[in-house]
Amino acid sequence: MWSKAVLSLLLLTVTSVHAIWPIPESISTGNSTLWIGDVLLVTYNGEPIPWIRNYIPFGGPKFSSKEIVKGGVARTAKNILDNSFVPWKLYPRMALEKTEPSLWQHKTYITRLEIVQTEKDTAKTFKPLAGDVDESYNLTVNANGKARITAVSSIGVLRALETFSQLFFKHSKGPIYTKQAPVKISDAPQYDHRGLLLDVSRDYLPLDAIYRTIDALSWSKMNRIHIHATDSQSWPLEIPSIPELHQKGAYAHGKTYSPIDVAAIQTYAIQRGVEAIFEIDSPGHLGVVALSHPDLITGWGASPWTTYCAEPPCGQLRLNEPKVDPFLDKLMDDLLPRLAPYSAYFHTGGDEVNFNEYSLDPTVGTNDSSVIVPLIQKFIDKHHARVRKAGLVPMVWEEIPANYNVTIGEDVVVQSWLGDEAIKSLTANGHKVITSNYNFWYLDCGRGQWLNFAEGESFEENYPFNDWCGPTKNWRLIYSYDPRAGLTDEEAELVIGGEVGAWAEAIDEVNLDSILWPRSSAAGEVLWSGRLDAAGENRTQLDAAPRLAEFRERLVARGVRAEPVHMVFCTQGMDPNACLFQ
Ligand SMILES: *[C@@H]1O[C@H](CO)[C@@H](O)[C@H](O)[C@H]1NC(C)=O
Ligand SMILES: *[C@@H]1O[C@H](CO)[C@@H](O)[C@H](O)[C@H]1NC(C)=O
Ligand SMILES: *[C@@H]1O[C@H](CO)[C@@H](O)[C@H](O)[C@H]1NC(C)=O
Ligand SMILES: *[C@@H]1O[C@H](CO)[C@@H](O)[C@H](O)[C@H]1NC(C)=O
Ligand SMILES: *[C@@H]1O[C@H](CO)[C@@H](O)[C@H](O)[C@H]1NC(C)=O
Repeated sequence: MWSKAVLSLLLLTVTSVHAIWPIPESISTGNSTLWIGDVLLVTYNGEPIPWIRNYIPFGGPKFSSKEIVKGGVARTAKNILDNSFVPWKLYPRMALEKTEPSLWQHKTYITRLEIVQTEKDTAKTFKPLAGDVDESYNLTVNANGKARITAVSSIGVLRALETFSQLFFKHSKGPIYTKQAPVKISDAPQYDHRGLLLDVSRDYLPLDAIYRTIDALSWSKMNRIHIHATDSQSWPLEIPSIPELHQKGAYAHGKTYSPIDVAAIQTYAIQRGVEAIFEIDSPGHLGVVALSHPDLITGWGASPWTTYCAEPPCGQLRLNEPKVDPFLDKLMDDLLPRLAPYSAYFHTGGDEVNFNEYSLDPTVGTNDSSVIVPLIQKFIDKHHARVRKAGLVPMVWEEIPANYNVTIGEDVVVQSWLGDEAIKSLTANGHKVITSNYNFWYLDCGRGQWLNFAEGESFEENYPFNDWCGPTKNWRLIYSYDPRAGLTDEEAELVIGGEVGAWAEAIDEVNLDSILWPRSSAAGEVLWSGRLDAAGENRTQLDAAPRLAEFRERLVARGVRAEPVHMVFCTQGMDPNACLFQ
């Protein structure tokens, strides 16, 4: 009995002071108060960096480490000085005032933030393949108000600055403080690819929603945004040499992404240590191309759609039609050289190719896999060659190697969504894998159908209209997922990370934030800190919940409408046992 009491006391003290999300590799904190304000001497390798709230770094194909750090420091100043929150939800009922530091005693301010980058960035730092960037950092804040960051790369500096900003709260009378000095943190990520898939085709997302999403990713120390740019429903991506694609395929005039927008998304992301990876799904999920190029697509709008595709409208790229290759050459020659300065990868899709669609294609005329698979093989070989020619590394959905048995290059990163067994067999076959296991990491699941059901049989059979992948993947379930579970060491090495998925059949900019956050951050901690702690034990919700609840308050204070982790009764006192299931 008493060991349980001691344990809960330990948990209480541990969680109430180490509220960094994601949890650092090692952290120790004290109980001295420091204040922070507008006056702070920041240096980066000895050179002064302005402690101001807004700074738009110079962007371009060449990124400078100093510009990246300047931008990061300015965002940190804004987050700390303007967007900190008064933590009444984290202290016991009516107790905030008792716990806040006194405004009338002598205040020790943080006067110095010394940033030291120990190695030079390279071109790869700003468009990395998995493993190209060392994101590790050390952060110390001593009780006299001197803070110091060391990191190997400028991206590591950004990660450290995010941790630094999470030390601070707003006093109910206004000023900003931490009660945790001295602080000593040493940190590095477990996975190289820590991402979110954002579908901007099913529903159009305006640029500011994408920017806000990139911000919140970087606050969660996530480093990839995968833009699922087109699908059968709409083509919002402007391709100047083939303008009819968006002119006929976007949902409306102006609901498109111009080349300038695309570059802006990429550079906005890079400045925050995030890489944007664009996907044009193919040969499936491409029906909308029929609106401008009917010759290239088989089965556009085929009915009943359940026979011909996973969701309406159907339509796939034809595999044996001579006009397809020149079209793809032109499309890729336009798009890829524009993406290549800022991304190391291009995602070629490849999921849910429906073989029945090819019975409708006169040049194939069958759904027989022995005919179709060799055609997909040819298609992938040529398409991946286009990607490589542009200096990018192809990504594909798992069906290409796992279901269609198509051979892919060793460079290709395979995105798995079908779960554990798929990851085991893909890695056993030597493929580099990122996981988006839909049983855990699909954020759109469990909110009901977006399809309509006519009264009668269809209504009765589908009542109460659950979607295909329910239940909702709540943050606890997301947090329980171990991307490397059940793998040998060799296989585990090949799991380079993962992405949560936000398919947008029922997501637009109005509900985006609450669907993504803080659930994506839960996956962010799994990917940064690992599902297992240093002792090899599963990380517990009891430790995670209070920290995630605090992080959620930071997201909200910074302008992201994240869902609550639980009610205030549970967060007050940061006592995880207050809401422990018994
Ligand atoms: C602060 O920490 C020191 C050293 O661990 C301890 O002796 C002291 O009691 C603590 N003070 C408060 C107010 O908790
Ligand atoms: C952080 O500190 C550890 C221990 O002192 C050291 O081994 C490591 O190189 C440091 N890392 C950085 C990025 O400064
Ligand atoms: C292939 O097409 C035939 C009819 O042409 C159909 O009976 C069969 O179910 C289809 N195969 C698959 C796997 O859908
Ligand atoms: C791929 O190979 C597996 C295992 O040999 C087999 O079961 C499956 O039918 C093949 N798929 C296709 C599309 O040929
Ligand atoms: C961690 O949790 C999983 C279930 O989510 C379980 O299968 C596994 O055994 C646990 N590992 C440890 C070390 O407790």
